Amino acid sequence: MGRRSTVAAIDVGSTKVSVIVGDLGDQGEARILGVGVTPAAGLSRGVIDNIQSAREAIGVAVEKAEQACGMRILSAVVGISGGHISSQNNRGIIAVPDRSRAISEDDRSRVLESAGQVAIPTNRQVIHVVPRGYWIEGTEQVSDPVGMFGGRLDAEVHIVSGAVSAVQNLTKCVEGAGVQVDDIVLESIASATSCLEEQERQQGVALVDIGGSTTSIAVYDEGSLAHTACLPIAGSQLTNDLARVLRCPWEAAEQLKCTVGAAYADPSMHETVDIQAFGTQAKKTVDLRHVCEILQARSEEILEMVAVELKRVGFYDRLAAGIVLTGGTSQLKGLAEVAEARLAIPARVARPSGYSGLSDLIGSPAFATSIGLVEYALSGRERVAEAAPGPSFDVPVGGIFRRLASLGRALMPQ
Ligand SMILES: Nc1ncnc2c1ncn2[C@@H]1O[C@H](COP(=O)(O)OP(=O)(O)OP(=O)(O)O)[C@@H](O)[C@H]1O
Ligand SMILES: [Mg+2]
Repeated sequence: MGRRSTVAAIDVGSTKVSVIVGDLGDQGEARILGVGVTPAAGLSRGVIDNIQSAREAIGVAVEKAEQACGMRILSAVVGISGGHISSQNNRGIIAVPDRSRAISEDDRSRVLESAGQVAIPTNRQVIHVVPRGYWIEGTEQVSDPVGMFGGRLDAEVHIVSGAVSAVQNLTKCVEGAGVQVDDIVLESIASATSCLEEQERQQGVALVDIGGSTTSIAVYDEGSLAHTACLPIAGSQLTNDLARVLRCPWEAAEQLKCTVGAAYADPSMHETVDIQAFGTQAKKTVDLRHVCEILQARSEEILEMVAVELKRVGFYDRLAAGIVLTGGTSQLKGLAEVAEARLAIPARVARPSGYSGLSDLIGSPAFATSIGLVEYALSGRERVAEAAPGPSFDVPVGGIFRRLASLGRALMPQ
């Protein structure tokens, strides 16, 4: 339709802040226009603990992305995660007073609103209300009730909530960097948006994004979001273990993990590696097998914790497509194989694809969330364009600067 839809996404991770600008080309193809990445600051376990440092890091990443795309970023979709996130499923029911008329979009909105009403403490707020399915007169499940007939409409939704303070702090940091928040999106939902196949969602899958300090989970069953969770353990624990056991600087442990580390220790490994050391010696030699044994123990612990969570909510046995790993830590050599052996379900590492302009950096599993946020924002744009053709959302503000905007949504697509 020749309409330009430009959006920006900010992923405030615990190891990196990334800002990505994307749009839809003339043929509707998704494109990456600019990227800004900077090391994270002011975050602990996925939650902001130093506003000033976090704001500065976001500001730097925003500036880099602006320079890369030649546009000023005025607003963006922002990812959220952390131990404060919780989720539940809920059902809502409404009566359709006139059975002779078809169920309307208004009825659908009413039933979703009713299903989204749960009692939550005043220090928590709802972040997403995701439709899971509709039932007419309580019988067969339908994917969309609009246009059908019946006197009663039920809807089931997945509700994600978070601490008001965490949402406020995140919003303040982004606004402090000069960017308005269009929408806050759960990071695991964003990663799922960029990395899951439709067949996996239909047959049952858990997206597991293992980042720097959080492991975010999103379970899909029969095509819809069924459960979300966030565990406070991830890649930095692997590095901490190496640094503590090998008594070496943290940076040396991090490099060791990312370059030669693996999630399993092969008994036939006999190589050694030189690493930076503390004390009188500048360097020391360690057994690669020992390094991998340390990484294997923690990798298995993280995967076990994921399995415990999936069993706790009763989805473990329903995941025909197993688990899909994203996040920086999913790049640890052999992690998917260890997951398959340990959890006895299929596992694969996924990376975002299908965008033009994806570099090796942002095409890696560590950017699944960031690209997913862009995709989320763009899909909202497409629906807005269909629902309300008319004024463009890309308002020229002079020179090479164009306004980036997207529409916030309370309800997400399935
Ligand atoms: N090749 C690699 N092998 C193992 N781990 C890696 C590799 N590359 C990056 N990592 C790890 O990935 C982690 C960072 O992942 P990611 O960028 O997804 O985190 P984040 O989004 O900043 O954090 P979070 O999602 O927890 O807030 C770090 O712990 C880093 O050491
Ligand atoms: Mg992340």
